[in-house]
Amino acid sequence: MKMIRHPLALLLAFGLVLPVLPLPAEDHGHTELGEQMEVIGKTFRSLRRAVRDPAKNAEAAEMAGEMLAAARASIDHDPAWTADQPAAEQADFVAGYKKEMQKFIDLLTELKAALEADDNEKANELVDALRDQQRSSHKAYKKPDED
Ligand code: HEM
Repeated sequence: MKMIRHPLALLLAFGLVLPVLPLPAEDHGHTELGEQMEVIGKTFRSLRRAVRDPAKNAEAAEMAGEMLAAARASIDHDPAWTADQPAAEQADFVAGYKKEMQKFIDLLTELKAALEADDNEKANELVDALRDQQRSSHKAYKKPDED
């Protein structure tokens, strides 16, 4: 009896599971936070180039403002990786993420002010600090297979 029921159960399981398998993959990169991060990523690339040229400080300050707006929007969205943390640790995980995002907002605020004040030496230091923070924050809060 079991021999007959098993293949049927298998067929049924595949029939039910296969059509939904592509769904999580389609989610990839389309979280609200992911969308803000895409803006941050693209703008930061242009900003890093602009910061090297003092003639482009006004442009670069505007880009820092765009990153700032995206960072402020990001602080209210939990990282996708939160769901994979043990239930008892999720609140701490999100609190740690928000703290890092606030640091990010503070650094961007300083960067915008430095560019507006034509202080390129300070601006370059802040760009380095932002890159360091990107690395450490992604290590801590960005799901490892999400690249
Ligand atoms: C200059 C700094 C940063 C840059 C250029 C940057 C860029 C990016 C990019 C390009 C992605 C992938 C977007 C996607 O396709 O989903 C991403 C994802 C992510 N980033 Fe950043 N990031 C920066 C700083 C930060 C900081 C400071 C944090 C945390 C406080 C953070 C947390 C995350 C998380 C959690 C994800 C995964 C998205 C999710 O969980 O929904 N990033 N980032």
